[in-house]
Amino acid sequence: MITAQGLYEKLKNIHVGSPVCRFTEENCELLLPTIRRIEELKREKNAIILVHNYVAPQIFYGVADHTGDSFGLSKAARESTADVIVFAAVRFMAETAKILNPGKTVLDPNPNGGCSLADGITGADVKRLRAEYPDHTFVCYINTTAEVKAQCHVCVTSSNVYKIMERIENDKIYFLPDRLMGENVINFLRAKGVKKQIEVYDGTCYVHEEYQPASIDQVRRNFPGVDVLVHPECQPSVVNKADYVGSTTGMLNHVRQSKDDTFFLLTECGLTGILQSEFPEKKFVGSCTTCRYMKANSLEDVLNVLENPQPAQIIQLSPEVQQNALRCLERMFEYAE
Ligand code: 13P
Ligand code: SF4
Repeated sequence: MITAQGLYEKLKNIHVGSPVCRFTEENCELLLPTIRRIEELKREKNAIILVHNYVAPQIFYGVADHTGDSFGLSKAARESTADVIVFAAVRFMAETAKILNPGKTVLDPNPNGGCSLADGITGADVKRLRAEYPDHTFVCYINTTAEVKAQCHVCVTSSNVYKIMERIENDKIYFLPDRLMGENVINFLRAKGVKKQIEVYDGTCYVHEEYQPASIDQVRRNFPGVDVLVHPECQPSVVNKADYVGSTTGMLNHVRQSKDDTFFLLTECGLTGILQSEFPEKKFVGSCTTCRYMKANSLEDVLNVLENPQPAQIIQLSPEVQQNALRCLERMFEYAE
């Protein structure tokens, strides 16, 4: 059971993002009653809380049972024996947990759980595209709604997109909705000499599309030897300058294993915060950006959704969407093995 001192130890080195707790011992003390009540409710309801790497650190360090990237959290949801799953992230991740666990109650505490990628395409859009490209295998990024997954053949995440796209037998693929990730995959496969005809949808993540290659040049000038880590939702001109490209957990593991002492992360601030907490001896330079959707989760939202979930916070899917989206996700687990 975490104490105010224990929470403070985890939060005190975090200097990015928009903390609710100002990370003094006194303010950590103020968070404790909410954290204790959440712990009580978890026991009462046999619930677990899954928290994405971008979510506010007082939730990440205060109440999470599992933390990670979208692939790791999907696996945790799939393997869970709890009756209730609270998914502190964004809507499409909570929906994914429900697709994998139709018999469990899955709760979404986030009052603003969208995502610029997931909101940019509908199931009806994919249906239309499938009629236009009947010979293509439709691959969707996990940052899509359950309706979109239900219309696609295979799902991917940032941790396995390159591998799965290479493994798909069909050489005609339609990738959606992230145009930049799609372009990065095309470049990766071309560099390996793999010939595939890949169409991409025109969606982007509003956080990652903003990063510019010039910032990497400037940081490299100011900090020679800096290790540059980039999320594959960034533009190809940014990805091409990276030392490491991968998912949020991939970046975390890269820093853990690296002998370098200075890092520049081109991704959401939540990850930089975790790394500042986990590796206080290492230096994280340059700026990061916050995702307004991920940061909409508060500790109070987590408490309220456990105590008294509102109908809109309980994930419900039609049996048809549930079954078809599950097939799409199961294919991801098969290809990713
Ligand atoms: P990860 O799966 O790498 O955590 O990414 C999810 C996401 O939304 C990135 O913007
Ligand atoms: Fe969506 Fe971008 Fe936020 Fe990730 S960072 S949840 S892709 S808007």
